[in-house]
Amino acid sequence: MNNTETKNLKAVNTILGKLEIRQVKTMCPLHGEYLANQVWLSGQIKEISECPECFKLKQAQKAIEEEKARKEEAERNRKQRIVETRMPLEYQTKDFSTFIQETDSQKAAFKLARRFVKGWEKAKAGGYGLLFLGSCGTGKTHLACAIMIELLKEYAFSYPRYYKASEIFSSVRSTYQAGSTTNEEETLKFFSSIQLLVIDEVGVQKGSEAEKRILFSILDNRVTSNKPTILLSNLGPKALEELLGDRLYDRVRSKCVPMLFAGSSMRKPATADLFD
Ligand SMILES: Nc1ncnc2c1ncn2[C@@H]1O[C@H](COP(=O)(O)OP(=O)(O)OP(=O)(O)O)[C@@H](O)[C@H]1O
Ligand SMILES: [Mg+2]
Ligand SMILES: [Zn+2]
Repeated sequence: MNNTETKNLKAVNTILGKLEIRQVKTMCPLHGEYLANQVWLSGQIKEISECPECFKLKQAQKAIEEEKARKEEAERNRKQRIVETRMPLEYQTKDFSTFIQETDSQKAAFKLARRFVKGWEKAKAGGYGLLFLGSCGTGKTHLACAIMIELLKEYAFSYPRYYKASEIFSSVRSTYQAGSTTNEEETLKFFSSIQLLVIDEVGVQKGSEAEKRILFSILDNRVTSNKPTILLSNLGPKALEELLGDRLYDRVRSKCVPMLFAGSSMRKPATADLFD
């Protein structure tokens, strides 16, 4: 009970003639003697003010618990935002700290990824993205997902999204079916308007004319409306140019900084001890 409350009670006491405040020396088992306010009503103790030191300790404990709850909430939000990018589960914990930089290629790729995150505001404003090329298991998806995780960490208003090229194609194809709630145009618009679009596994299957048209439409829209895109492919520059065609490849090159991931696969072969 603080001084104002004590005064108020004294005032009530005067009016009703029933309440009484007594100040009594009291022992706190932890902090020793203190002057407690006792509230008496009709001859019975109704309240005793607690030890001021215990009160302070409880307040401090409460602040710690609130801070802990706040951190847990922030961590839940962070994980939720990572899930919302649609990146595969395997990569959801792979941030920059987990990317090994031993070879020159890994060092160069990592440096570029870090520059991209640091320069995100410029990338966003100019629609500048990345083009990761290289053979299987060299860390393209890992680093692209790490970029998304780092962007979410650094920028509250970043909304990266991950799609495999095949998912984009089937999403557009599904609009041709009877009963589809969206049409092709809306779906193309959706992919064109994503703030940062990561398209993985470009050129995994030999693209049909329809697929090339879909990719062209989305990338052309994104390039001309300054939306950054990160493209990942197993193909070499020549094969990618053949797949995309001169006009699209030219557009991609004007906006996406290329990086060749060299070396052999970092995928660990599965061994029997995985089951132990
Ligand atoms: N530099 C690295 N540091 C740590 N782990 C790595 C690195 N490069 C690759 N890996 C790991 O190796 C595995 C394969 O990497 P990733 O999936 O990124 O390859 P990729 O280049 O996308 O291959 P693909 O073309 O087959 O899709 C993943 O588990 C990834 O975390
Ligand atoms: Mg990959
Ligand atoms: Zn105490």
